[in-house]
Amino acid sequence: MHKKIKIGIVGCGAVGTSLAKAIKADFPLSARIASLCDIEKNRADSLSQKISGNNSLAVLNIRSLISRSKLVIECASSLCSWDIAKEALNRGRDIMIMSAGGLISRLPALTKLADKHAARVYIPSGAISGIDALKAAKVSGIKSITLTTRKHPLSFKGVKYIKEKRIALDKIRGEKILFSGAASEAVKYFPQNINVAAVLSMAGIGENKTRVRIIADNRVKRNIHEIRIVSKAGDIITRTENLLHPDNPKTSYLAVLAAVATLKQIFEPVRIGT
Ligand SMILES: NC(=O)c1ccc[n+]([C@@H]2O[C@H](COP(=O)([O-])OP(=O)(O)OC[C@H]3O[C@@H](n4cnc5c(N)ncnc54)[C@H](O)[C@@H]3O)[C@@H](O)[C@H]2O)c1
Repeated sequence: MHKKIKIGIVGCGAVGTSLAKAIKADFPLSARIASLCDIEKNRADSLSQKISGNNSLAVLNIRSLISRSKLVIECASSLCSWDIAKEALNRGRDIMIMSAGGLISRLPALTKLADKHAARVYIPSGAISGIDALKAAKVSGIKSITLTTRKHPLSFKGVKYIKEKRIALDKIRGEKILFSGAASEAVKYFPQNINVAAVLSMAGIGENKTRVRIIADNRVKRNIHEIRIVSKAGDIITRTENLLHPDNPKTSYLAVLAAVATLKQIFEPVRIGT
C-alpha cells in the first residue's frame, strides 16, 4: 500500500474547514492532515480539535507547515497565495491554490518554479464549468472567451466600484450591466469574482484578452456564470447556476466540491476527463 500523503492547510476558514473534513472522511487511505495554520491561531487550534481531538496539528507559521507537509493547500487569501506558492515550491512541495486571484499574470513564473523544483501546482476549476473543454480547444487555438457573471444586486453590497459609480443596488429591477471589460480590470473592481476570472484567464488566453461582463439581476437567487468560447474546434457555451455553500453563504458550494474532486484526481490512479 502507498504511504499516506501528508497535507498542510493554510487558512482554516470556511473552505479550509470543509476541505479538512472531506480529506478525513473521503480519503482515509490516501492522505492525512499533517498540519494547519492560520494568522488567527485560534482557528487552526479549533480545526485541529475537530480533526484530531487535540491542538497538535496547529502550527504558528507557514514555514513549519511546509516542513511537515508533502502537499500544501492554500485557502487563505489572494493577498498571500503567490508568496505561499513560492515558498512551498522552493522547498519542493506540491501545492493546491484556492485563491487563484493572487496568481493572475504570474502563470509563467509559477510554471518555471514548479519545473525547477519538480513540484506540482493544482488550481481547481472552482465555481465554473467548461475548463475541461477549454483546455482541449486551446490545443487548436482560441479566438475569444467571454465570462458573464449574473448575481442578485445585493451580492454587490460594499463593493468599492459600486459606491464610486453611485449605483443604487436596491433600485435595480431586471438586469443592469455593472461592468464590461478585460478580466484584468474586472478582478481589480470585483474582488469577489476574482477567482473565477483568474482560473478562466489562466486556463485560456490570459487576463488581457478574456472578456468579463458583470450583471446585477434582481430576478436571480443563484450566482450564475456563463462562459462562451469561440475556438478553431467550434464554440463552447456553459452555464453554471451555483447554490451557496451550506456552511458559508459567501462561497459557491461547487467551488469547494471542485477542490475535493481535484484531490480525488491526485490520489486515484485513473483520471477521467481532460
Ligand atoms: N477558487 C475558488 O473557486 C474559490 C472558492 C471559494 C473561496 N476561494 C478563496 O479561498 C480563500 C478562502 O476562502 P474562505 O471562504 O475559506 O475564506 P474565510 O475568510 O472563511 O477563511 C480564510 C482564512 O484564512 C486566514 N488567513 C488569511 N490570511 C492568511 C495568511 N496570510 N496566513 C494564514 N492564514 C490566513 C483567515 O484568518 C481565515 O481564517 C479566499 O481567498 C477565497 O477567495 C476560492
